[in-house]
Amino acid sequence: VTEHLIHPQVERQCPFDPPDAYRERAKTSPISHVSVWDGSLAWLITRHEDVRTILRDPRFSSNADLPGMPYPSQAAAASADGENKAFIKTDDPEHARQRRMLTGEFRVGRVEAFRSEVKDIVATVINRMISDRHEADLVEDFALAIPSLVICVLLGVPYDDHDVFQRLSAEVMGKHADHKHRTVDDVRAAHQQLGEYLHALAERKSHEPGDDVLSRLIARHEVQGDITRDDVVSMARLLLIAGHETTANMIGLSVLALLRHPQQLKQLIEHPDRANAAVEELLRYLTVIQRGEERVATADVDFRGHKIKAGDGVICLLSTANRDPQVFEMPESLDLERDARRHVAFGYGVHQCLGQSLARLELEIALVELFRRVPTLELAVPFEELTFSSQSMVYGLHRLPVRW
Ligand code: HEM
Repeated sequence: VTEHLIHPQVERQCPFDPPDAYRERAKTSPISHVSVWDGSLAWLITRHEDVRTILRDPRFSSNADLPGMPYPSQAAAASADGENKAFIKTDDPEHARQRRMLTGEFRVGRVEAFRSEVKDIVATVINRMISDRHEADLVEDFALAIPSLVICVLLGVPYDDHDVFQRLSAEVMGKHADHKHRTVDDVRAAHQQLGEYLHALAERKSHEPGDDVLSRLIARHEVQGDITRDDVVSMARLLLIAGHETTANMIGLSVLALLRHPQQLKQLIEHPDRANAAVEELLRYLTVIQRGEERVATADVDFRGHKIKAGDGVICLLSTANRDPQVFEMPESLDLERDARRHVAFGYGVHQCLGQSLARLELEIALVELFRRVPTLELAVPFEELTFSSQSMVYGLHRLPVRW
């Protein structure tokens, strides 16, 4: 009997690199079997070219209702099924129908118009952080605050509800508790509370509409009637969850990576006009979606000499794909000067991140403004003492104590 590698793997020699076992697989057997929480086998795909080939092939489904979806834990499986299902977990044509209702909101031009608002948010957060003190937890006081305020503006969530919001989304994402110890009931309860909150907010928006995504979606439900109230709520929840922890963890890890690579940081400070390229490289190098993307084969597929059967689970690892030496020269080094645009940190194919222009804008402004306003920023604890969320869906720092 062959011993199968258990997915997910979490041990990392260097906190910026993918887990050791995945790096090993990427070198020695780029397409292989792993076993997941319920003991079933799934395919692990590690190379850039292969990951892209699978993610653009409609025979590999995102449908959470199909048996065989290779979730990393029972809790993760519980958060994707039934009434919680959003379009990220459906296939075309239903996926495309719902996604189209939001694409206008995330067009590059529309997001650019948001620039001054994001700048104001970042300035407010920095002012609050540096007023009358010289130390902070950069995760809590900076990284989490930014995407959370941006999403509140996007959805029209009142500022007073912001704490409730942050807590519920953290519970849904499993940031504070590790996946293994979370029960299915915990996850369902968190989803339900968030759903109830969003239903109440949608109700309010139908009486008092504002200039926000939720108001437009609920008006669409009422006027055109091509979307149900439940789908409006699940879209809002998807935007919140997808855009919050991901962006926050990217901000926190990016700050740490830059502090650990002073030459690179110097470059960013001296050339803020090249910040967009720097952000692409940080997205590649850090790849916060650490579990990879799960799919299920809906047909038998001959793939590079392997027979993937209908019903087989497939895990496309974005982190190793972004370190593929066939695509990126010296992939293990952080090099803000490189052209990293072919990275797959936002996924690939029809589900490729809808919020990517907004995420890029937030990262760019957050990093440039932080180091412009607080140029003496440094770690307040030894690097070795930092701990990382290696058990949750999105990789990141628990805390980042800094001083200036
Ligand atoms: C650095 C931050 C972010 C990263 C690394 C990230 C990453 C990803 C990835 C890898 C996917 C593909 C999932 C799949 O194929 O199953 C995705 C999808 C998605 N993301 Fe992001 N994301 C980020 C920020 C955001 C933001 C700010 C928003 C919106 C406010 C957002 C909204 C979405 C949505 C709605 C989807 C589903 C798209 C679909 O299924 O068609 N993301 N994201």
